[in-house]
Amino acid sequence: MIDEILGRVQKELSFLRCWLVPGEGMGDAYIRLRMKASLWDWEPSHDEDRTLKDAIARIAPQFTMLDLNRLRSLVKGAEEILRRGVPGAIVECGSWRGGALALVDWVFRRRNESRKLFAFDSFEGLPPPGPGDPWMARRCYYPGLCSARPADVECALEALGGPSNQLTIVPGWLSQTLPSTETGPIALLIVDVDWHDSVDSVLRFTHQRVSKGGLVYFDDYDCWPGCNTAVHNFLEQQGVARSRLRRVGSAGAWLDKE
Ligand SMILES: C[S@@+](CC[C@H](N)C(=O)[O-])C[C@H]1O[C@@H](n2cnc3c(N)ncnc32)[C@H](O)[C@@H]1O
Repeated sequence: MIDEILGRVQKELSFLRCWLVPGEGMGDAYIRLRMKASLWDWEPSHDEDRTLKDAIARIAPQFTMLDLNRLRSLVKGAEEILRRGVPGAIVECGSWRGGALALVDWVFRRRNESRKLFAFDSFEGLPPPGPGDPWMARRCYYPGLCSARPADVECALEALGGPSNQLTIVPGWLSQTLPSTETGPIALLIVDVDWHDSVDSVLRFTHQRVSKGGLVYFDDYDCWPGCNTAVHNFLEQQGVARSRLRRVGSAGAWLDKE
């Protein structure tokens, strides 16, 4: 219930999102409160959920700014990949401090599956928004917004007992790092890069690598209009129906790779 209300508030105030990120003073407080309230509100009815709640509490909000709904949706996505037996790596573009990637890895390891993990991020924060992004993005942008350190990603994995030998951290701008990094087939792709051009780069360079039956998660689909436009344009170019997108929570969407 509280989770739902906070989700709605966040959607209504999505233009304030850039001030509501950890590390931004007021953002830290808001995100901590939101996660505390959501965890408090969640009464797991079975052991599996109790273990999941404990895992989420270990990484959020310190290592991820995703809310509880989105994290639980990612867990469901990971379980779906396991159920379908889709081969390939887990890739996050826009890993920030790595908590979301660590949680997905944790789901796989609990089922004795170990996948290659790739964390792509500039580790210098977001690039400036472009013409495909709303004026509010340009207004609130400053260099270093949403920056993290590669060591944070390692700490996030360690917080959930993850092995770092499966992890490749790729620092740099996506338009340069994605084409030159050999990821192999991708089973699960998390796209959390906010701006139009960043989402467009991810799709152009990685969509072909996503295995049949694999899943792509767009965290900003209904939150940043530039992300929404980049996804729609790409799907249109590829002749993929928009109906293949499934919305989750207040902002995210999943794409099933045919
Ligand atoms: C909203 S944060 C990601 C949050 C993270 N997924 C989590 O779980 O909390 C967006 C991240 O995308 C990265 N980013 C956005 N565009 C990028 C680009 N073109 N190249 C590299 N990194 C980019 C930023 O550095 C930032 O860390």
